[in-house]
Amino acid sequence: MALGEKMLGALNEQITMELSASHSYLAMAAWFESQNLPGMATWMQLQSLEERDHALRFFDFVVDRGEDVALGSIEAPQTKFGSALEVFEAALAQEKGVTVAINGLYTIANTEGEYEAIPLITWFINEQVEEESSVDQVVEDLRRAGDDAQVLLMLDRELGARQGGE
Ligand code: FEO
Repeated sequence: MALGEKMLGALNEQITMELSASHSYLAMAAWFESQNLPGMATWMQLQSLEERDHALRFFDFVVDRGEDVALGSIEAPQTKFGSALEVFEAALAQEKGVTVAINGLYTIANTEGEYEAIPLITWFINEQVEEESSVDQVVEDLRRAGDDAQVLLMLDRELGARQGGE
């Protein structure tokens, strides 16, 4: 085996977690569409694609190491939200959960001597810092906006300007 059982199991779980995040962001995009906030919907769609890309990075690594990918099941995501702020708070909580899992992968790679996995995992550690920070920024902006519909529309336009690959 090119990967120990523990490392392989954790990497496979991570693939499912990233796909689950992708699914969840798509549900958030659908909610924003239903609320006539197309900019935030676009932002969430791009985020969903980015999570799929994350899953594929782990997928490719497992395959490159000559191991079998084992996908787990994905639960139905939350589809109803009370406000834009609630959605982004849920997104932040999700990202924090992913960060814990990525840090866990790093611990496994070190304790199990899976050094080939460390560059990939390190990339994700940096990525999580960025992801948490960008979602946190939106949460802060939405908190400040409060009930001001004008500011909400401005933020929607701003978030809609997000380009793919960020
Ligand atoms: Fe793939 Fe947003 O963590």
